Amino acid sequence: MNILILGSGGREHALAWKLSQGETDGKIFVAPGNAGTSEIAVNLDIDPEHFDEVKREVICHNIGMVIVGSEAPLVRGIADYFSSDEEMKDVILIGPSAQGSMLEGSKHFAKEFMKRHGIPTAGYGTFIEGELEEAKEFMKTMKTPYVLKADGLAAGKGVVILDDYADAVTELEGMFGGKFGAAGRKVVIEEFMEGIELSVFVLTDGISYRILPEAKDYKRIGEGDSGLNTGGMGAVSPVPFADREFMDKVERRIIRPTVEGLASENISYRGFIFFGLIKCGDDPYVIEYNVRLGDPEAEVIIPRIRSSLTDLLLSVNDGSLGRMKVETDPRYVTTVMMVSGGYPGTYEKGKVISGIEKVSGSVVFHAGTRKDSDKTVTSGGRVLAVSSWGHTMGEALALSYSGIEKISFEGAGYRRDIGFDL
Ligand code: AMP
Ligand code: GLY
Repeated sequence: MNILILGSGGREHALAWKLSQGETDGKIFVAPGNAGTSEIAVNLDIDPEHFDEVKREVICHNIGMVIVGSEAPLVRGIADYFSSDEEMKDVILIGPSAQGSMLEGSKHFAKEFMKRHGIPTAGYGTFIEGELEEAKEFMKTMKTPYVLKADGLAAGKGVVILDDYADAVTELEGMFGGKFGAAGRKVVIEEFMEGIELSVFVLTDGISYRILPEAKDYKRIGEGDSGLNTGGMGAVSPVPFADREFMDKVERRIIRPTVEGLASENISYRGFIFFGLIKCGDDPYVIEYNVRLGDPEAEVIIPRIRSSLTDLLLSVNDGSLGRMKVETDPRYVTTVMMVSGGYPGTYEKGKVISGIEKVSGSVVFHAGTRKDSDKTVTSGGRVLAVSSWGHTMGEALALSYSGIEKISFEGAGYRRDIGFDL
């Protein structure tokens, strides 16, 4: 079967890499892909949010399965577009319906869903433009810091955490005033939860689910978790504090009620659910849902899946997921992200990358790269993720860091402390 992966980051390279380990006798396509995916798959130069272009390529290349990497096409309804199109409805699409994607596409929807199903999460209130006074009154009843979240997709920038009441009011005015576009004209104000975060993933057909390896992501640009938020600077799997007892609580209190809640509300969901969790004391709480795999989490969890991912995805389609087993590699996998100078602020692109071929014993997943004749050059803020296996986290990290030392491009940066708090 020919398979198409939509997206262009490290997550999509990791998916293509896994499928290319003899999992399919068909061809692998990535749209639009990057320099790394072009070495193991065929890149298609289309925009995943232009569904008519996706359809044209699916027909032209006889594609049987489409895996949607990032949230935007899902929230815009790519799954519904496929299922309602006569020519596309037999093509397997991995990703939830637009309604299911609201778990990520609307913070308010996700909070109401959790409330309906008794899923532990921070207390909150939702306010729309014109309700500034009500929002201010609500904040006066809360302990600091204030967590303000734009309701809609805001490219990972829609969450602001502020200690000072006056600053929070100014921020709210900005959000209501269109600072995050339409996404922020509705704002969820949340209690702040203190704890350590982790990312838990499941694959579901909307009825059954299988838990995939969990991961910890390092979101801040600076060492010791300082500075601005990024898409993620590195990740580790497994997460030592996510022991059996804790994961049992996660499954019982969060995963099962989420999947059962979707089914009971007749929300069609075939794909990944990413639970952004926080461990407060000994208990898990949901910070957010995402409707896709994480990036860079995918670069550590996919290398730990020993089972055929293709078979797991096919079982999501034919209803046999409940009979599948996910075999995992017990070793640690770590990934360290190399980023462009200036990221997550402004940065230059087009820097020539050298030394990738000198890395051995790790896999280098490309995040923001492209080919420029025979050279590989940077084309994004996050450039490469160096993933490595080890019997200990330290062993895996040592390999990732020795890999990074062999790679160079002008302005390259990375965090030297991935895993520091585990
Ligand atoms: P989100 O986009 O909802 O994942 O939020 C981005 C980041 O903000 C999370 O990864 C947390 O570090 C932080 N955050 C969000 N909500 C809360 C909360 N209620 N309490 C503490 N930290 C939070
Ligand atoms: N690494 C967090 C995310 O993919 O949203």
